[in-house]
Amino acid sequence: MFPRDFAWGAATSAYQIEGGWQADGKGPSIWDTFCHEKGGVFGNQNGDVTCNSYELWEKDLECIQQLGLTHYRLSLSWARLLPDGTIRNVNQKGVQYYNRVIDDLLACNVSPMVTLYHFDLPQAIQNLGGWKSPGVATLFDSYSKFCFQTFGDRVKLWITINEPHVCARLGHEVGIHAPGLKEKGTTAYLVGHNMLRAHAMAWHSYNSEYRATQKGAVSLALNSDWFEPLDPLRHEDVASAERDLAFTLGWFAWPVFITGDYPELMRSAIETQSKMTGYSGNWRLPRFSKEDPPVLGTADFFALNYYTSRKVKSGGCCGQMLSMKRDLDAEEVLDPSWPISGVSWLAVVPHGLRKLLKYIKDVFNNPTIYITENGFAQAGPLQIEDVERCKFYRSTISEVVKAIEEDGVNVRGYFAWSLMDNFEWADGFSVRFGLFHVDFSGAELSRTIYRSGREYSKIISKYKSAQSGCQGFLDDDY
Ligand code: GAL
Repeated sequence: MFPRDFAWGAATSAYQIEGGWQADGKGPSIWDTFCHEKGGVFGNQNGDVTCNSYELWEKDLECIQQLGLTHYRLSLSWARLLPDGTIRNVNQKGVQYYNRVIDDLLACNVSPMVTLYHFDLPQAIQNLGGWKSPGVATLFDSYSKFCFQTFGDRVKLWITINEPHVCARLGHEVGIHAPGLKEKGTTAYLVGHNMLRAHAMAWHSYNSEYRATQKGAVSLALNSDWFEPLDPLRHEDVASAERDLAFTLGWFAWPVFITGDYPELMRSAIETQSKMTGYSGNWRLPRFSKEDPPVLGTADFFALNYYTSRKVKSGGCCGQMLSMKRDLDAEEVLDPSWPISGVSWLAVVPHGLRKLLKYIKDVFNNPTIYITENGFAQAGPLQIEDVERCKFYRSTISEVVKAIEEDGVNVRGYFAWSLMDNFEWADGFSVRFGLFHVDFSGAELSRTIYRSGREYSKIISKYKSAQSGCQGFLDDDY
């Protein structure tokens, strides 16, 4: 049975849905820049308009109500609120927009979960060095305080930074996300470090200045696949899977939840490769400084984004050049029995979520967990009757039930990615994650519920009636 007050949500992010990229004084973000430079995104598409939620918010609210969500996870566009990234210049139109969104949600009895940063750094801050520059942490802290001050009377669940791992690796090592850097083996670690410093500063600010009056909770959203050894009897494969977990989830979760520092496994793997390649620079994986507020203990709950799983074997790398891949020294493979969704990276492995939840319970001291993203992609010919996605949600949610009931994991919420089809980063509009279809070819951008949206809504309403004592929950197929 799901606990009382379980959060049933769906998630979106500002750049992916809002559009209005220059509306009412918004400043540019690194995703505006990245998309406008040709070549980085499928079909040279961009988020200039996307779902136009900046103008069509009422339509989103109707979708939220139609699903019966108890929670909605959205992100704020830093550059819409603070066009040059600093609190010297506040865009009141941006403040009004988010005030309206938050007030409308609350009026409909839907609690907002608000992410402060979902990949869209103000371009003005990128021009100062972006996440590579240590000073970004202080700027993020000021922005966060501004948001707590402005919206925190009504917002009780905050995520500081979404997926620092993805931002660091895809944006600064692989280069397929903004700002498109490919500085292998060094910059991603520095960027990750500054994101952790920024997160910790914001958490401490909330803790000392706002928590007593606002009584909310603050965390950061960490993504991880579930990794398991290809051959569980082979020592090298077991060690490689552990390393993969350390480099993905552990990179950010160890400092925050366990030790205040990066996993030892990660540090030693990086040092080994530095030696092997004759690297003579400073530490590639930075050390936390005593001058900064401590990072340990800066999460009031564990926010997990889970999409897929991988089997891991040793080796698989790769030349004499430094790279994160070389540091990781592991090869990820797909189990042939796992179906693949509309995107090649997303193998459908619901039971991997249960295993990952149990792992988090055991390793990170049994935290309260919100699954802040999970979803299934459609690509190719459109299917409003998306039976595969229905199956996906059913079996994923039943794995969450098992994690709660059989493994005793403290899961407090589940957010489907995504409320509606939207701009899927490097894949543009070619990949659809929505519970609602968005007609990007029509001027009205009309939203139409998928069968999976109806399915999800049924699950939620069953839960609600079980809570009010009308009937047992999960009595048939769950
Ligand atoms: C996550 C990201 C979301 C969404 C999702 C599906 O990494 O936070 O913005 O795009 O992946 O790919």
